[in-house]
Amino acid sequence: MSEQIVVSGKRVSGRLHIGHWWGAIRSWVQLQNEKQCYLGAMDWHGMTSEYKKPSEVSHFVRENIAEYIACGVDPEKSVIFVQSQVPETLELYMIFANLIPMGWLDRVPTWKDAEEELKQKEMHNLGRFAYPVLQAADICIYGGQLVPVGQDQVSHLELSREIVRRFNFLYKGKMPEPKPYLTDTPLILGIDGRKMSTSYGNGIYLVEESEKTLRKKVNMMLTDPQRARRENPGEPTVCPVYKTHKLYSSEEDITWVETGCRSAGIGCGDCKGRLADNIEKIMNPARAKKTELLSAGSNLDAIIQEGCEKARAQAQKTLRIVRSAMKWNS
Ligand code: TRP
Ligand code: SF4
Repeated sequence: MSEQIVVSGKRVSGRLHIGHWWGAIRSWVQLQNEKQCYLGAMDWHGMTSEYKKPSEVSHFVRENIAEYIACGVDPEKSVIFVQSQVPETLELYMIFANLIPMGWLDRVPTWKDAEEELKQKEMHNLGRFAYPVLQAADICIYGGQLVPVGQDQVSHLELSREIVRRFNFLYKGKMPEPKPYLTDTPLILGIDGRKMSTSYGNGIYLVEESEKTLRKKVNMMLTDPQRARRENPGEPTVCPVYKTHKLYSSEEDITWVETGCRSAGIGCGDCKGRLADNIEKIMNPARAKKTELLSAGSNLDAIIQEGCEKARAQAQKTLRIVRSAMKWNS
């Protein structure tokens, strides 16, 4: 096993959707075979927006971890933890909070470009402003160097590196600089044709309740607007359904879509039905596993507790090194 530490996680604010899989989680599943991975359910990050509904956030922590495991994250290989169960993170966050100028945070696009919207949603708060500082602490508390995330997180990782450099400069520390690990997946579109996002509510869940709910969502997906009627030929490359086929379907099925769509040989209903079949093949075993993990008598809570203990032990080690570099309370 190589030395490089991998840290990642998802903000807890609802159920996971397939965009999360293609953007980051599939990298976790691959990387855990080669590297030590720390994978978190980031509930403090969830609370920056969901602070009015803390009990829901707690509920989704368990559900999200069940989804991680159902999709292939292996608690024997990876340390799976809950962010708020590692309070050492918050101490490092506080240390970082002092050495980072406000201007650095002000410039982060996920803040700057969202300010008006955040004000309207009553999410224009200090916790949300400092979100990337907490993210840096999440990574550095485990000595993370490689951070599998979606493209939207790149600016946060840049800030993490700037924080680490400043920490190392001020305290002659040796904290490693984290870098993003991106997948080559194109943007995943939601059923309304916009970017798939929890806040738009347009996602296909990573584990849909049933085959029926999956089919229903796939049927709602937008298609090539030129194909208003069954007789009209369409152009698959502009169609979100086709883009999703490219992720889930065989070469053979993709060719069937391309020719059938362009010649009006198949209808959009047929095309969507085939897509739902192919997604369901993958989702079905994950659904069974998730149900089992969330059922009474499963060992999910023990798995979570064990992960949190491992994470905490590592966090305490890092914090001792940090304090001693700073010559503060050490
Ligand atoms: N901000 C990340 C997201 O929204 C979640 C996250 C929190 C994270 N802390 C992290 C990701 C640390 C990687 C490393 O997806
Ligand atoms: Fe899209 Fe398939 Fe309909 Fe073509 S046949 S427009 S690819 S849904």
